Amino acid sequence: MEQRQVFPAMRLKGEITVPGDKSISHRSIMLGSLATGTTEVHGFLHGEDNHATLSAFRAMGVEVEELPGGVLKIAGRGLDGLQEPGDVIDCGNSGTTIRLMTGLLSGQSFFSVLTGDRYLRKRPMKRVVTPLSQMGARIWGRGGGDLAPLAIQGGGILPTTYTSPIASAQVKSAVLLAGLYADGETTVHEPHLSRDHSERMLGYFGATLRPFDGGVTLTGRPSLEGRKVEVPGDISSAAFFLVAALISPGSELLIRNVGVNPTRSGIIDILRAMGGDIVLENERELSGEPVADLRVRHSRLRGIEIGGEVVPRAIDEFPVVSVAAALAEGTTTLRDAKELRVKETDRIAAMTSELSKLGATVEGTEDGMVIVGKESLHGGAVVSFGDHRIAMSCAVAALRATGSVTIDDTGCTATSFPTFWSLLDQVRGA
Ligand code: S3P
Repeated sequence: MEQRQVFPAMRLKGEITVPGDKSISHRSIMLGSLATGTTEVHGFLHGEDNHATLSAFRAMGVEVEELPGGVLKIAGRGLDGLQEPGDVIDCGNSGTTIRLMTGLLSGQSFFSVLTGDRYLRKRPMKRVVTPLSQMGARIWGRGGGDLAPLAIQGGGILPTTYTSPIASAQVKSAVLLAGLYADGETTVHEPHLSRDHSERMLGYFGATLRPFDGGVTLTGRPSLEGRKVEVPGDISSAAFFLVAALISPGSELLIRNVGVNPTRSGIIDILRAMGGDIVLENERELSGEPVADLRVRHSRLRGIEIGGEVVPRAIDEFPVVSVAAALAEGTTTLRDAKELRVKETDRIAAMTSELSKLGATVEGTEDGMVIVGKESLHGGAVVSFGDHRIAMSCAVAALRATGSVTIDDTGCTATSFPTFWSLLDQVRGA
């Protein structure tokens, strides 16, 4: 198992570009495959999660060519052009792949089976199986239909109105992707707005959607047309460098070309509320998504209360927010974030245990964390639990430790951020 030793740093300096957005990259393959004509994807994230989605579509007969510079050229097969896969589809570690594909496969008139790695096979799937069954899909799984492998006999999808008990883009997207195959309107209500990349990209490819306060309605059987998609940098990857610069005295970084969709930019709001100096420069739009360059300077952070609507807008960033909080003045309280318990690992338990090993004062609660900040952490040995964001958050914490931090099981960073370690070396001038 890969292990890394991370040393404390002082000033982080320079300009970096983080890899493409993971959520948008998944959707570009899915919609490019269901569209007619060619879709070219620039800035695609070549990480393990997105490659799982790519392999799945190749297994269903979609031809995808890789052009120089990592650009993907997808030969769309139209809404009804996918073929029954000859084998079980392995979604690896990717929750987005398995949950969105369960929706999409519910609309196909063939049989398919989805599975994943040992972490994914423990994550709850009922959240998508329930609404999709309501739409007419037949889905079987372990644990009474809650756990992968999932077997799906698609076809006969009916329009529905579904009120999701959780703010989850994976649930919303699974229902909308199945709704592509329903004659009529499919509506999803959610308690807070989750990331809306599916809606934006469906609209960009020509589908009709009506967003409203508390949900969205999609008209079924649209004709989707292949487009050029330019994927912005992933704000969830930029987040590690935002926090790294904020906590390291003398730092200033410019992170170019980052997606700042308001349903994803909760991390900027949270870090600014903590006193972080983050400036958006050169704001523009790329393929229907807002983008900016982020300038971040070292700042004295203070503890805050976090809860409510910002939580789904920053849901993947709480591991690294907990690092910022551990080094802020005063107490940070996170609430309404129970979803963190069912991510790649239980992220409340993971960050509580690992930050404590480095001397932080952290307590896990049922739906969040209470963190009392201090000037610095100490060195030690931590583990990632195979979760990419835990590994990278521990690396950021190590920058402000008094000794080196050894992180066990760091190969998982390849799922979302293959260039993380080289960029970290670059900005610390190593
Ligand atoms: C994602 C949605 C979020 C997020 C995940 C990616 C997506 O999950 O945590 O990393 O691409 O739709 P939930 O829908 O479970 O909140």
